[in-house]
Amino acid sequence: MPFYQRLGDVPRKRHIQFRDNGTLLVEEVMGLEGFTGNESILYHLQSPCRVMKLDGFEPIEREEWVPDQHAHRHFKTFDVEPEGDEITGRRLLMWNSDVEISLCRPSGTMEYFFRNGEGDEVIFVHEGGGVLETIFGDVPYKDGDYVVVPRGTTYRFRPQGPQRYLVFETPGLIEIPRRYRNQYGQIMEGAPYYHRDIHPPAELRTIREQGEFPVKVRVRDGYQTYVVDYHPFDVVGWDGYLFPWTFSIHDFEPITGRIHQPPPSHQTFAGPNFVICSFCPRKLDFDPLAVPIPYHHSNLQSEEMIYYVSGNFGSRRGVEVGSITLHPSGLPHGPQPGLAERSIGMHETNELAVMCDTFHPLKLTRLARDLDDGKYAYSWYENAQAADPESVDDATGAGLTSHL
Ligand SMILES: [Fe+2]
Repeated sequence: MPFYQRLGDVPRKRHIQFRDNGTLLVEEVMGLEGFTGNESILYHLQSPCRVMKLDGFEPIEREEWVPDQHAHRHFKTFDVEPEGDEITGRRLLMWNSDVEISLCRPSGTMEYFFRNGEGDEVIFVHEGGGVLETIFGDVPYKDGDYVVVPRGTTYRFRPQGPQRYLVFETPGLIEIPRRYRNQYGQIMEGAPYYHRDIHPPAELRTIREQGEFPVKVRVRDGYQTYVVDYHPFDVVGWDGYLFPWTFSIHDFEPITGRIHQPPPSHQTFAGPNFVICSFCPRKLDFDPLAVPIPYHHSNLQSEEMIYYVSGNFGSRRGVEVGSITLHPSGLPHGPQPGLAERSIGMHETNELAVMCDTFHPLKLTRLARDLDDGKYAYSWYENAQAADPESVDDATGAGLTSHL
């Protein structure tokens, strides 16, 4: 998506004869927005349409939880039980018509291929690593990576060790924010990452194998399984702008300032009516009168979920690695009592967190109900009663969440 790539063999021009041992290869244009958006052109040994068996269709069922009260919430996800594989183990936590946010802690690995036929995906790898095998080639991934998979990409995970993901699925497009790119698409100076930080498929392996290969395709709000008689990774070459890629949260270059920088300075990806941001270890505001943690704010037109990856969140009562806070629209939020004062003199933060702001309200699932701590809405009130002045290390700011 971000720039032109080519792997394997492709012919001199588009749409001309291209043969493998004398056999005409099957050219597939995989493109967005009709024939005007970004596209890649793939050359297959077999027709990608060749289905030997139609299996069942499984509709997606979402179990909504409508809370009795509208309030700030805190979900503790770290101890969620492993289940399913990298696809069936995605457990929806919150969603709207623009984005679905799921936890995934697979207990097994997929024995089939998967393709999201109706949306783009961002898989944040909190724990684990391995290879995402795709029709465009192998995409190695490790903890801290965002794995960006455009719709239409057939893939399967080959994990190494236990895995823990935060998964975003959107019917829209995942994009590099427009303001980071010049009119030609190049990422500009001043953006918090560069093309060298984006890792396209590393190696294309053309697999010439006949058999029975199930391919589960997310489409029409469900999963349709097809069985094909040829290995889906039969591509001998491709080129274009559409392909899966990774970006490590550790390669995000934080933007800091003399006074507090707003959350958009942490933006990493843009989706339709939502953004994904990375909060990384960084120096904090350096004006002598700066208040290094944020002002209170009312997200009048957005909802804000933050997933805490690592760092010390001790002074956010009860917030720990794997916690998710949700600050819904209509309510102000900000530092808990005493923390603005305590933050003065802080020089740096070691937090690592992923945030998703949506411009439309998020619905919650029963899983969210089960993981809700039920107390977070009162945490500003409780802390006013029992703020612990010893809980913050003034020199480093350890114990303060600096974005809130
Ligand atoms: Fe906020």
